[in-house]
Amino acid sequence: MEVAREPDTLRVLSKERPCPLPSPPSAPSTRHSRRVAGPEVESRRLGGFDVSILGLGTSRLASMGSGRSKRDAEALLGAARDCGVNFLDTADTYGSTAAERWIGELTASDPDRWVVATKTGLPTVDLPGPFRLANQPLKKVRQFRGQAFALEAKQLRRTIERSLRRLRRERIEVFLIHLPPVSIVNDDEIGDILQDARSAGMIAEFGVSSNETATIHAAHQAWGSVCTETQVNANSDAGNALGSLSSFDVIANHVMAPPARWADASDRRDSHVRMLRFAAAVPGVKVVLTGTSSVGHLRQNAAAFDDPVTESDLII
Ligand SMILES: NC(=O)c1ccc[n+]([C@@H]2O[C@H](COP(=O)([O-])OP(=O)(O)OC[C@H]3O[C@@H](n4cnc5c(N)ncnc54)[C@H](OP(=O)(O)O)[C@@H]3O)[C@@H](O)[C@H]2O)c1
Repeated sequence: MEVAREPDTLRVLSKERPCPLPSPPSAPSTRHSRRVAGPEVESRRLGGFDVSILGLGTSRLASMGSGRSKRDAEALLGAARDCGVNFLDTADTYGSTAAERWIGELTASDPDRWVVATKTGLPTVDLPGPFRLANQPLKKVRQFRGQAFALEAKQLRRTIERSLRRLRRERIEVFLIHLPPVSIVNDDEIGDILQDARSAGMIAEFGVSSNETATIHAAHQAWGSVCTETQVNANSDAGNALGSLSSFDVIANHVMAPPARWADASDRRDSHVRMLRFAAAVPGVKVVLTGTSSVGHLRQNAAAFDDPVTESDLII
């Protein structure tokens, strides 16, 4: 799914079956987006990859208490395929490794169709075989004990290898350190291991997932990394300080946060569409994550991008 210049590569972003969506009118697109001709979804360039403007976030896919099964996850990924979504965001901690494992199983037949971002650093328990059932309860215990960030440089290479194995991929397209303190970003050993993993072809892009602008800029300084995941909504720093991340390749999460001024019901009309499009219009954003666990909502959210995103979407 790299370097989509040839028509063949562009085809991976096309809808295999049409979603029940109206056809897009031709309107001018923003500077950082482009409309792919025909029935394909809009794609943007994130590092060396063409990614669909809408990506599927998987933090609820396999988490304890979500009530979701692997069959639900299969339906969700199937709908993502249908809608031309090619970007999946996960983390080793989601479902305490279950989300990565399910993604691995459900994309094993067409791994090159997908661009996968995963993260490491937050508490995760990964017991083998029959002990797996204890992974999520034990992770909760670690969280309950107040463990927030848990990554040591000496574990990092093995952590990447484990994610590769669970995801059944030869390479992770985007590898992110999950909500790190800035000391981790400034730890030379971490930077060296990430660079080595990239040289070895285990990962392609790397960076931080952080809501701290200072940490994102520190990663840029220490690692030269421009790929970052952060909250983008009308209340967030990235949403408000438009342009501060414009030179980054931003994966936008937590986009469904309505502006505080949306007091009455009329403001909330089409609110999901408006929040998704707002995030997509923020300079630097390459992919907007939806953390839905509903096939219907995923289709609605894909339909939000039927019209090209323009700067007017910033007026929310
Ligand atoms: N790196 C990090 O620290 C971090 C933090 C947060 C999130 N993330 C990533 O970002 C992804 C998305 O973030 P998020 O969890 O905050 O999700 P989100 O997409 O901002 O919000 C999800 C919520 O919105 C609802 N929703 C979505 N589309 C809807 C629609 N069309 N109509 C009505 N309700 C709708 C969902 O309900 P339904 O399930 O019913 O649709 C769910 O309650 C996560 O899955 C994860 O991959 C990363």
